[in-house]
Amino acid sequence: MYQFDRAEYEKRMAWYTQARFGMFIHWGLYAIPARGEWVRSVEEIKKEDYMPYFEEFDPVDYDPRKWAKAAKAAGMQYMVLTSKHHDGFCLFDSQYTDFKSTNTKCGRDLVREFLEAGRAEGLKVGLYFSLLDWVHEDYPHYGDRNHPMRFNEEYQNEGRNFDNYLTYMHNQVRELCTNYGKLDILWFDFSYEDKYNVMRGEKWKATELVNMVRELQPEVIIDNRLEVSGDGFGSLWECDPKPYHGDFVSPEQIIPPNGIQDKEGNDMAWEACVTMNNNWGYCENDRFFKPASMLIKKLVECVSKGGNLLLNVGPDAKGNIPPESMEILGEIGAWMDKNSESIYGCGKAGMEKPDTGRITRKGDTLYYHLFENTIGPMPLMGVKKDEVQYIRSLATGAEVPFANSWVQGPYPDIVFADLGPDPVLPDPVDTVLKVQLK
Ligand code: GLC
Repeated sequence: MYQFDRAEYEKRMAWYTQARFGMFIHWGLYAIPARGEWVRSVEEIKKEDYMPYFEEFDPVDYDPRKWAKAAKAAGMQYMVLTSKHHDGFCLFDSQYTDFKSTNTKCGRDLVREFLEAGRAEGLKVGLYFSLLDWVHEDYPHYGDRNHPMRFNEEYQNEGRNFDNYLTYMHNQVRELCTNYGKLDILWFDFSYEDKYNVMRGEKWKATELVNMVRELQPEVIIDNRLEVSGDGFGSLWECDPKPYHGDFVSPEQIIPPNGIQDKEGNDMAWEACVTMNNNWGYCENDRFFKPASMLIKKLVECVSKGGNLLLNVGPDAKGNIPPESMEILGEIGAWMDKNSESIYGCGKAGMEKPDTGRITRKGDTLYYHLFENTIGPMPLMGVKKDEVQYIRSLATGAEVPFANSWVQGPYPDIVFADLGPDPVLPDPVDTVLKVQLK
């Protein structure tokens, strides 16, 4: 019977809930068709018609140190790279397949270089690993919910030996956990069910897999997608943790409206994974990038609700992060340079969200994130005057006086800050007041 060790779990999770902000990187052969990472499935491309991309792949500009520097400059504290996505292409030198980056023109172990670059920049490093594999003959084809050949009757599943596939999959996870040094995160993706199979939990031989992972990488943090996908929670949320329970919940392309609490109402670790445009993998015609101003506020929202933000970039076929993404990362970094204290190690404030923005908290320090100004002095909702030691501009450290104007007379129980005569806030995106409690 699996015994969940809460103390060990909290110790293992400490850096992760402190870090709050990470970079997701979706990269692989699909960057050549440049229509997103699901292109094989969406367009029902046969394996033989996808192979030309393998023959062609030659990321001449790949320089993961550049990626790591961009992540660090943006204030990100960890990075997660797709080591193998659903298309089955391995960005690492797996001994169990020829469908790998070391057999492409570049001849490079892209994962190894990525991990070394991330560590060199002082970042925590993780690998995404797809449980699905659309190139392996023993993975369900016809009738599967996602497989590119799911509708093609020529691809029946007689003779496919799923146990063979699991041996292959487990061996590759073993390779990643053995040959590449300390991994900080393993990001499995994803569990699902269709009319033929329930691809969850022990269908993946998840207990055996996780026991092996934890033996090789005792401190690694694992997501919840051996159990669910972005639309589920998992057994830790059920308060009935399985041996392969996710360490965090992984909402996808959404920020949980009220954060995430387990079935008994206890706050849980969670990480919203979000794309900058609308695709994880590089997509040439998807230029619908979210503005940096929006993403800064979304990072604040995640932290104010007790979660992390894993923000994705999809490098192109040559290995370059798109210029729009680099610009967004630069703007986020400029804000983080002055305000990261209100993000790292922060979480829920335990008080109502104010009209003017959001509040994050670290111990007895509150950070009021002002997305807009008020008319008159700024109300600091949720605190009493005799609780507040001082108010400071986080960006400059300057003292912010308590307001004491006649207009606030009717509201003696509310603390007001005097932001001065300028109706325009110093930071047009998010001006942070540091409110130190006694
Ligand atoms: C979904 C998509 C996958 C992507 C993942 C990121 O599972 O299928 O392409 O890697 O979301 O969370």
